[in-house]
Amino acid sequence: MTVATRDKLSFNASIGSWLLSCSKVVTCAVIVHGLYTVVVRGGVLKRITHVFQIGRGGERRRRHDGSSNGDCSHETTDHHNSTIRTSTFGEDDYESLIGNTPMIRLNKLSAVLKREIFVKMECMNPSGTGKDRAAMAMIRAAEKEKKQLRVVVEGTSGSTGIALASLCASRKYPLVVVMPDDQAQEKVQLLQCYGAKVHIVPNCAISNPNHYVNTARRMAEQMSDHACFMNQFENQANYMAHYTTTGPEIYSQIRQKRRKLNCFVMSCGTGGTLSGCGKFLKEKDPNIRIILVDPPGSCLYNKIKHGVAFTLEQRERSQKRHRYDTIAEGIGLDRITACLDFGLDSIDDAFLVSDQAAVDMAHWMLRNEGMFVGSSSAMNLVGAAIAAQQLPENSVIVTIVCDSGQRHLTRFWNRDFIVNQRGLRWPGDETKKEISSTNNLPEFMRTCC
Ligand SMILES: Cc1ncc(COP(=O)(O)O)c(C=O)c1O
Repeated sequence: MTVATRDKLSFNASIGSWLLSCSKVVTCAVIVHGLYTVVVRGGVLKRITHVFQIGRGGERRRRHDGSSNGDCSHETTDHHNSTIRTSTFGEDDYESLIGNTPMIRLNKLSAVLKREIFVKMECMNPSGTGKDRAAMAMIRAAEKEKKQLRVVVEGTSGSTGIALASLCASRKYPLVVVMPDDQAQEKVQLLQCYGAKVHIVPNCAISNPNHYVNTARRMAEQMSDHACFMNQFENQANYMAHYTTTGPEIYSQIRQKRRKLNCFVMSCGTGGTLSGCGKFLKEKDPNIRIILVDPPGSCLYNKIKHGVAFTLEQRERSQKRHRYDTIAEGIGLDRITACLDFGLDSIDDAFLVSDQAAVDMAHWMLRNEGMFVGSSSAMNLVGAAIAAQQLPENSVIVTIVCDSGQRHLTRFWNRDFIVNQRGLRWPGDETKKEISSTNNLPEFMRTCC
């Protein structure tokens, strides 16, 4: 089998057997003791030049050779001499599911915008977000650094806590999580199911000693020497996980699709994803535009646009002096973190996206693409649509689906919360029109088509 047939192959998993179909040469692949035997049409068995592993969702994944150099990634070349980087978080256990997430094209959105919009499905990591990458890297770094880890403590809006929870469970590390009180209840429930101890604190600015991150740090300090505060916002392992895996995967996947990446759009929670991916992509090709998407109340938009990290909602004596004031969970900052600082220079532009635009986009995505996305992903997609407006036709834009709408049923996907508590419009309510029609696009998209 020549490698040239690789892209024509499609793998399907069925109970106990793997069937492989190919237009010309290969008829099927059988797994014996973890090795893939390729049977060629006509009964001739040819040289196997590559070995693949079947991943979730029928994705094809190349097995790595276990020679990880500690940067969580592995490099090979394909038949076009393009570099392919795959993540190596684990060999064949639960942790090996982290990373190497699929990249898919949003056909309806691309057609409407006349630009190609791709999304990296970080929601398909085992705990449901890209935070798995950061959590794994931070745990590994802590294990390397400390003689012994007894208790893991983290301040989180939820996703990192959930990612840490499964890793801690298998290692028998007790996990203590401190969360602000403005996050969806289902995240708290999930954490409790995983066995984490959850402390909820009022949402407030980072300057307040009771901010969830400050509280978590203090709790870890008050425990024994072996308690470890993960400190995701300032932790090098967080952004390096994205610099060495997510960024390279995006670059390789777009090249494998025979496209050239023009723009990467992402919001910031800790800043690890945007910064790690942005820096990697910029180093690969300085023409790739890196764009930050910022929700209301976050100070980063002004930092990128005007050099000052400031937002009106966080001004002194403001009634709304929250960490940030948005429907979007897990994103928005009131400071420049070490994670963001790492790739700050690679960010070319920033868009401020309203909560209403995110709600509109999430509903449009569900009705048109059939995708049920969470609030930060919806913000990212609005950002991708705005970026598309500024780029020439057929440009290639990548953004990230951070998590599924299932994590947001009680807030972002709850009509009562959106309308009665946040004063926003629930798409379709006023007009009672069928919102699946592409003629009835959200306002921000209408302007760009
Ligand atoms: C829900 C959600 N939003 C946004 C992000 C981006 O976060 P960060 O900037 O910390 O990488 C993540 C990370 O996976 C996430 O889970």
